[in-house]
Amino acid sequence: MTSPALPPVVRTIADLRATVAAWKREGLRVGLVPTMGALHHGHLSLVDAVAKHTDRVIVSIFVNPTQFGPNEDFDRYPRTEDADREKLAATPASLVYCPSVAEMYPEGATTRVQVAGVTVGFEGAIRPGHFDGVATIVTKLLLQALPDVAIFGEKDFQQLAVIRRFVADLDIPVEILGGTLIREADGLAASSRNAYLSEAERAVAGQFNLILKALVADAKPGANLRALEKAATAKLIAAGFQSVDYISIVDAASLTPLETLAPGHPPARVLAVARLGAVRLLDNMAIGQQH
Ligand code: PAF
Repeated sequence: MTSPALPPVVRTIADLRATVAAWKREGLRVGLVPTMGALHHGHLSLVDAVAKHTDRVIVSIFVNPTQFGPNEDFDRYPRTEDADREKLAATPASLVYCPSVAEMYPEGATTRVQVAGVTVGFEGAIRPGHFDGVATIVTKLLLQALPDVAIFGEKDFQQLAVIRRFVADLDIPVEILGGTLIREADGLAASSRNAYLSEAERAVAGQFNLILKALVADAKPGANLRALEKAATAKLIAAGFQSVDYISIVDAASLTPLETLAPGHPPARVLAVARLGAVRLLDNMAIGQQH
């Protein structure tokens, strides 16, 4: 049996634009899946999901330096372009866009996209400047590819809220989809950074999902949400996590922390980050739904 053909790669804005323009002349709908590579089944599910709405799918792979802090993992972030292309060969991806840092941030570039409101708190507080980097690169990718639809995983729930905010505020003509959070067999949220976990840490990591599920089950209207968050934090520490950056039940649209839930409350979500060894694990769940 022959293996499926690798999707072609373009590395420049000019080549990307020429390809997309040709597709648009044929009346085709274009989808974009922005990634930083090190693709896992969560990313591949985004490709499948966007392909249901479009005729052509671009997957961008770019480890974006401006969204990493000075002491973060930019240098050691996995760069696995060949393996990523092989994984994409089995998906509906039509094109892989792999620009260089110089292509994305040519000398002299000083503009940044800065979003207020939903960037305050959580990742915005712990990783200063992170969302400026995300908003800037995603704006550039959207303007370069001009997709009809772009998709981002719900695993980075605050990032998705930030992207929806600036796309609306800047009148960028694209439909933004949220892709369902994909989990490993033990419930750990799929993430490229899971590769940093040692074997012993990986064995503990699935507890995160179980503890959050229990919190979600207890988060009924009238419950004391602060007490539930505190109890979940204590359970994580007891399970072997080093520390908990936050566990917070928030309004799913504004990301404002909630004290309590009224019957028939608007969509709410628990956002959580816990540290296992040197790895920050992010997770989130809808309140009042099955996971
Ligand atoms: O979620 C990611 O992988 C990145 O933040 C994104 C959206 C590709 C921007 O670099």
